Amino acid sequence: MATIIDGKAAAARLRERVAGEVAELAATGRPPGLRVVLAGEHPASAAYVRTKEKMAREAGIDAAVVRLPAEASTAEILEVVQGLNRDPEVDGILVQLPLPAGVDEQAIVLAIDPAKDVDGFHPWNVGRLGSLTGDLPPDLLVPCTPMGCLLLLEQTLGREALAGRRAVVVGRSAIVGKPLAQLLLRRHCTVTIAHSRTRDLAEECRRAEILVAAVGRPGLIRGDWVAEGAVVVDVGINRIATEDGRGRLVGDVAYAEVEPRAAAITPVPGGVGPMTVACLLANTVLAARARRAAARER
Ligand code: GUN
Repeated sequence: MATIIDGKAAAARLRERVAGEVAELAATGRPPGLRVVLAGEHPASAAYVRTKEKMAREAGIDAAVVRLPAEASTAEILEVVQGLNRDPEVDGILVQLPLPAGVDEQAIVLAIDPAKDVDGFHPWNVGRLGSLTGDLPPDLLVPCTPMGCLLLLEQTLGREALAGRRAVVVGRSAIVGKPLAQLLLRRHCTVTIAHSRTRDLAEECRRAEILVAAVGRPGLIRGDWVAEGAVVVDVGINRIATEDGRGRLVGDVAYAEVEPRAAAITPVPGGVGPMTVACLLANTVLAARARRAAARER
């Protein structure tokens, strides 16, 4: 039987650590400030944003959501971002994606001050993650979901034990797959990024000692795609229809088939999801500290 990796408990521990750090910052000045920009009412996005605001406030962060109508233009969203860039009490800015159709997402991400980019999506932060080698720079803002995956893997295997392992990341998104591959390289894994055009995806997956699924296709990874003893991280959050009409969340991994073969596996829900939010709070503290240090130097 696989070890079920308890992301909920790991996230609660991380949030508790962050709350301590927030209290220190508050006692010596002010709590970190986080603004989440939500344009429109994409139902999943609205739910994520509510969770981010609630968890941030529970950790003592000065968090608020900036709501814009679904019709907001690129120029209007840019203006909001520029205002948040200038606001000295704002340490972290997160623009919830996807933005409404027609909005230039690239332009918005480029406009965010890299020092406040708690999503780690700005090319400056993306480039720093991918450039050079060795340990992660301690002040680097790393995308939250891949950071959460790495922390769960380190907790499960031990940080040093990642070195030399064959890791297969299924999914090449800028939000998860690509940054996670960079993080695993930094921990000295042998990394393959597989995707929708990969020939014989099942065979690639079977080679993995660490298998991460981040594609958004319910149950894509089948039992016979997974080597005995692999560690499996499921990033997928897919709502599927059920007979009672309420729907149910499932991952990208066919859990019932894969779990008996895996050494360890993250459940959905309760695996990677809670870690994403906890890492956002950790990034907010990181940004607040770095900005305070930079202000002292000026
Ligand atoms: N949409 C889905 N995941 C994310 C995320 O990590 N950050 C933002 N800003 N939007 C998302």
